[in-house]
Amino acid sequence: LISRAFRHQFIIPEFQDFCKEIEEIYWKCKDNNNGEVASYIPQLKRMSSNYWGVSVCTIDGQRFSIGDVNIPFTIQSCSKPLTYGIALDLLGAEIVHKYVGQEPSGRNFNELILDHNKKPHNPMINAGAILVCSLLKTVAGPEMTLAEKFDYTLNCFARLAGGEDLGFNNAVFLSEREAADRNYALGFYMREHKCYPDKTNFKECMDFYFQCCSLELSSDSLSVMGGTLANGGICPLTEEKVLKSESVRDVLSLMHSCGMYDYSGQFAFKVGLPAKSGVSGALLVVIPNVMGICLWSPPLDPLGNSCRGVQFCEELVKKFNFHRY
Ligand code: DON
Repeated sequence: LISRAFRHQFIIPEFQDFCKEIEEIYWKCKDNNNGEVASYIPQLKRMSSNYWGVSVCTIDGQRFSIGDVNIPFTIQSCSKPLTYGIALDLLGAEIVHKYVGQEPSGRNFNELILDHNKKPHNPMINAGAILVCSLLKTVAGPEMTLAEKFDYTLNCFARLAGGEDLGFNNAVFLSEREAADRNYALGFYMREHKCYPDKTNFKECMDFYFQCCSLELSSDSLSVMGGTLANGGICPLTEEKVLKSESVRDVLSLMHSCGMYDYSGQFAFKVGLPAKSGVSGALLVVIPNVMGICLWSPPLDPLGNSCRGVQFCEELVKKFNFHRY
């Protein structure tokens, strides 16, 4: 880092100026009072609608954050691209995509549908993510117990985050499991259609899915994960290669087309960046070869995306030329 600084070789050379612009957008979005905090479980419902944090981590490890960046929140659906990336790394795309497709579903993230091959449409919606959870268990290498699989995944997530603290919110896990009629319905529907690999332990697979959603972290840590994805799988802080670059390419491709629920098409059009949102109000945005950004604010729009998060992205590409096209 220091030698690059001396050579002025940073990807964002005028980082201080860049941060000032980010700050300006931050304050503009703070005034946005639209949206509702998710209320299907009490632990999410209790979150203040005022929380608003922005964290940035460039591929060369320059960092900036503003707002509520140290308050832990659960990762929820932002875990989906990460577990998908881990599955790709373990098994390769060919095997993973025998079980899950690559098409946007054009429907709600938890809708009871499969594609015309009787596979879940993609790994960014609930059905696809549940399926990916079953792959980590039954196809990968030596059979892992649920405990081993949880450890393995937590460890991968922590390495993606450069070793920063990750937690697990047991109350959220228990509530998710209680409030999961639809997810169970999806799980059973896929079992009816023989979507899972042989020997899948259905109950453990569902639990693992709820556990992945219940991992807890701060906006700073999620931005480092985004930085690792932006950097082809090499963590900008530790320089460890956590995911293969081809896995990262696949993850980003599907974040681009499917990461923002039923707003994915419009988001790809307006913002043009791979992103994934979660019901806790987290929004993970990747600017490939430049930086990862985490935006976190609990109020969600009717499609389920963080209102302040989406506004931030739209303002960002007005100011900077980050749209891929
Ligand atoms: O499966 C659920 O309902 C949540 N725990 C995850 C929801 C989420 O963030 C929506 N994602 N696609």
